[in-house]
Amino acid sequence: MPESMPETSPRGLTRLAFGGDYNPEQWPESVWQEDVRLMREAGVTMVSVGIFSWALLEPSPGVYDFGWMDRLLDLLHEHGIRVDLGTPTVCPPVWFYRAHPDALPVTADGVRHEFGSRAAICHSNADYRTAAASITTKLAERYGDHPALAMWHVHNEYGVPVSACYCDSCAAHFRRWLAAAYGTVDALNEAWGTAFWGQRYAAFEDINPPRTTPTAVNPAQALDYKRFADATMRENFVMERDILHRVSPGVPVTTNFMTALSQCDSVDYWAWGREVDLVTNDHYLITDGRRTHVNLAMAADLTRSVAGGAPWILLEHSTSGVNWQPRNPAKAPGQMARNSLGHVARGSEGAMFFQWRQSRRGAEKFHSAMLPHGGTDTRVWREVVQLGASLDSLSTVRGTRTRADVAMLWDWHSWWAQNLDWRPNADHDPRERADSFYEALYDRHLTVDFAHPEADLSAYPLVVVPALYLMTEAAGRNLRRYVENGGTLVVSYFSGIVDEHDAVHEGAYPGPLRDVLGLTVEEFSPLLQDQLVRITGPDGSELSGDVWTEFVVPRGAETVWTYADGLTAGHPAVTRHRLGEGTAWYVSTRLGADGLDALLGWAVEDAQVTPRADLPRDVEVVLRAGESGSFLFAINHTASDAKVPLETPGTELLTGERAAGRLEVPAGAVRVVRLDG
Ligand code: GAL
Repeated sequence: MPESMPETSPRGLTRLAFGGDYNPEQWPESVWQEDVRLMREAGVTMVSVGIFSWALLEPSPGVYDFGWMDRLLDLLHEHGIRVDLGTPTVCPPVWFYRAHPDALPVTADGVRHEFGSRAAICHSNADYRTAAASITTKLAERYGDHPALAMWHVHNEYGVPVSACYCDSCAAHFRRWLAAAYGTVDALNEAWGTAFWGQRYAAFEDINPPRTTPTAVNPAQALDYKRFADATMRENFVMERDILHRVSPGVPVTTNFMTALSQCDSVDYWAWGREVDLVTNDHYLITDGRRTHVNLAMAADLTRSVAGGAPWILLEHSTSGVNWQPRNPAKAPGQMARNSLGHVARGSEGAMFFQWRQSRRGAEKFHSAMLPHGGTDTRVWREVVQLGASLDSLSTVRGTRTRADVAMLWDWHSWWAQNLDWRPNADHDPRERADSFYEALYDRHLTVDFAHPEADLSAYPLVVVPALYLMTEAAGRNLRRYVENGGTLVVSYFSGIVDEHDAVHEGAYPGPLRDVLGLTVEEFSPLLQDQLVRITGPDGSELSGDVWTEFVVPRGAETVWTYADGLTAGHPAVTRHRLGEGTAWYVSTRLGADGLDALLGWAVEDAQVTPRADLPRDVEVVLRAGESGSFLFAINHTASDAKVPLETPGTELLTGERAAGRLEVPAGAVRVVRLDG
């Protein structure tokens, strides 16, 4: 560990980060001159280099070619561009695999991946670890005090595209990990419930990864393997980070996360957030029919939350279309700026892209870039230059923090557990619940912090819990304390069911939440595909639910909505429980957007969350505040001009105009007001 506290912001970067992955090794050096000239024209402040360059930096074992990297860093430095320098450990060279073919990862079906793509790594492999440590040390020794160096970028997107390896080295490593976690094999047998289906183990040596089995594998084993695979990647990150801290002190170390739940499902970012000096994130729009700006806001809020509320950096997004979805729409005019400034509003200290210059060759040649194939006489380039100017005028937001109104609980372990085999209804998707609850809050113009179930929640008037199936006793106590002390809690069905080993809590469902919610759930009653149930409210209003219903027995809670048909007719669908100074709501079916909006309407009243002044749907308003002032971001995602009420007058930073009373935000535009005072 370093002797002093590590730096948490890029060394020498005095503006917001603006730039992208820069892969100049794909071009003759004569092109680099044009690159830096155009970077300056666009206002680029930082680029990420060397992420995939191991084969060029170490062309054969122990033989290094740093000449090109020396020239590159010097050139960038001469032009005032800061460098986020990659350790290239996501792409070992072919010579490494020829010497160590068992470093290639193996699938659960026993298929070994081949060389010829990227990120083919078994993270348990000792030779990989040695080689990664060695190239990291060499780079740190050579560039640790290079004047261009702003930060270290370890590896690339741990967990994507390979989330776990099932080879024999991993099996041995898994056994050691289990022995450390459980101490004795008896304790493991108990925790995993191996009395079931005769799975009892006599020794740790008998245990394997959850490779392909005839039918459902032991769920506790599968859940522990997710934890093990995540922890193993983190061991490798920490190994590299510690080398960098030792050899290159004072330079922050990051690795680029992918917090969007649609993009990475194998990494517990609560744990990773504690290990990096500075959180950075990559985000790409997924065209799955949902509103992409809502998904973006959610990923940005989650990123800020894993950073503990501290500023973070968007290290990659796209200027226009990507190339890895079945259909890759281009971004509409102005969308790139809305996306970029949407991240900044939610705490990012800049907006970076994959990548600077669009590749001519390789798998990503149809992925957009800052400098497209078409060159500078293109819409994308003009918008890039405009964005560089916009970010330049927002420099003073650096160091401020986004103000959240409410919290949503999220836990990757619970998500993993819910996705194991043989759950009551395959149509129940915990991510969908998180997305939908988030969207309902977004539509009320509330800014959301995410929180771990055991985190201190006392700062939030309202806490929303979408399907938190795995919940520890400690989390249950935390929520009880929160409500007793005056908080308002909203809990969705299938929460508080199992402990950390996927064992059902003793007593009736929902174990640690029974007292908080004032009810028990006698039985789940999942619905068939497309089956709907009607539920009626106190004023005779009617809503519908699908996917899930339950036989809820109130034990102190009042029934607010009741099932009107289906097997659970007459039973409570939505309940409210007053406990201590606070209130806990429970919903036992899957509500659609209307239902969630109605439910949150009641909860927001209980919580006395100040409603946002009347704003049109899809006009996003977010506040960042800190020592340098208060900044109101207004992003108009609609095709109509909008007016945003302004309680405090201020100066709009992108136009330089004064704004008072109300702020005009043209269709598709972004406005950022530095509030007076
Ligand atoms: C990221 C990755 C980049 C590039 C990009 C394309 O996930 O880190 O290297 O592949 O996707 O969208």
